[in-house]
Amino acid sequence: MMDTLVVQKDEILSYIFSKKAIVTPDALSILATRPDYREIVDSILSKGVFVVDADLVRAEIVSRGERDETPAVSDVSPETEGDGEATREVVVEKSRFTPLAKEYDARIRVFDEFDVTGKSYCEGSVEDFVRYFNDRFERLSAILRSRPHLNLKPLDRLPRLAGEEVDVLAMVYEVRESRKGNLVVTVEDPESYATVVIPRNDRKLAAKAEALLPDDVVVFHGRVSSSGTLIVQDIYWPDVSEHTPRYADVPLSVAITSDWHVGSRLHIEKALKKFIDWLKGKVGDSKSRELAGTVKYIIVNGDVVDGVGVYPSQVDELEIKDIYKQYDAFARYLDEIPDYIEVIVGPGNHDAVRRLEPQPAFAKDIAAPLYERDNVVLVGSPAYFSLGGVEFLTYHGTSMDDVISRVPYLDYTAPQEALKEYLKHRHLAITYGLKNPIVPEKRDYLVIDRVPDVLTAGHVHKNGYCRYKEVELIVSGTFQEQTPFQLEHGHVPTPGVVPVFDLSTHKVNEIIFYRGNGGGEA
Ligand SMILES: [Fe+2]
Repeated sequence: MMDTLVVQKDEILSYIFSKKAIVTPDALSILATRPDYREIVDSILSKGVFVVDADLVRAEIVSRGERDETPAVSDVSPETEGDGEATREVVVEKSRFTPLAKEYDARIRVFDEFDVTGKSYCEGSVEDFVRYFNDRFERLSAILRSRPHLNLKPLDRLPRLAGEEVDVLAMVYEVRESRKGNLVVTVEDPESYATVVIPRNDRKLAAKAEALLPDDVVVFHGRVSSSGTLIVQDIYWPDVSEHTPRYADVPLSVAITSDWHVGSRLHIEKALKKFIDWLKGKVGDSKSRELAGTVKYIIVNGDVVDGVGVYPSQVDELEIKDIYKQYDAFARYLDEIPDYIEVIVGPGNHDAVRRLEPQPAFAKDIAAPLYERDNVVLVGSPAYFSLGGVEFLTYHGTSMDDVISRVPYLDYTAPQEALKEYLKHRHLAITYGLKNPIVPEKRDYLVIDRVPDVLTAGHVHKNGYCRYKEVELIVSGTFQEQTPFQLEHGHVPTPGVVPVFDLSTHKVNEIIFYRGNGGGEA
């Protein structure tokens, strides 16, 4: 419950400005309840700080032996995402924290066959590319062939099928618009290539075709013209036809995070520490602490550090300029996490593994401290694993930039929509050769053969959630403030917001640990 305001905020502002300092709005609200606000401010400023924030005010109040009041981490259901109304002032309850998760053993199974770690044999030869695309084509074709009622014909038969209604299964080579506004699609199958036409006057189909991308493997349904060209009437992607989600039989949870960017000047240590304090039951009301006690697993889905030399001017933005020290600092955070919680860590485009996808797990030489911890599981990107029987596909999400730039109805404000495309196309980096580099491995690890219960990515620093064909899609946020690059591109991140996924119900609780400069007001 909030205390009554006893001091005019203008009076406090004048006082703090006279001291050549500034105050955050939440700190101002607390100070307005305090007749002794001058002493509190003086004491804080005597420590050499310039910004009086709520944490400093609370710490000062606690140091005076008074009751500890703190803003709660807020339980925000996905349904109420965005209103920020759920924030409450609560009293931290000092009762013993008895986490449910401590009473259960971890149940983790990593599906190694989906992870490139230790299995990269690519030399970049022509044969490698041919084998890679054959693998992609075969595996995506197998999904499509299982669809009923297809009248599949090879491309080289089309000239002899004039007037017939047929289906062709092919990989898209190129999509271009003709002078008349029709879409002309060059397609290939293992034996041949052909051109199919998507007429512009079929508005519904044209809208569907906005998602048609080079290297897609799809079925085109249509009628063959007298000249042997398929005039398309419908397009089928491999997609997810049916999925029966798996649920855990005990109410344990996964905190899904990414993009900590440890080592960056913009890394928000305060928010990350609050998250860790929450895991320890030190922050929040009884309901929130109960939820914290269910967290048995944490996913850190790439960009765990800011890296070094990721882009030309990055050095100016680094707090820690040594890559080894960045991973040391990351490991020190992991040390603070209760050891009954298992932490699954994968790489991203800022990490010190190869930039090309699929990315292997961190090597021992670069991230030695992570190998010393019993409760840390290192995986690649993508990775496929189950937690308590619920299956997760994790992918850092670097190709989201490509898919968002190519598909007209996608944008960065709803990144979860990009994850729908991954499932629809059954591939995590649909078009080869765009900004996101791919290694032509023997096996295409980016094909989604097996449908997970949860598909999660990060990378865009903006939280987003939805359910698609019974698969939970979760875009995790970041612990980094808005970067100059994001500011320039009008991208507003949601730092310090952590989705907590209940394995037994698939419900997402969004917990807010930060309401700072670069967003966070999810
Ligand atoms: Fe990132």
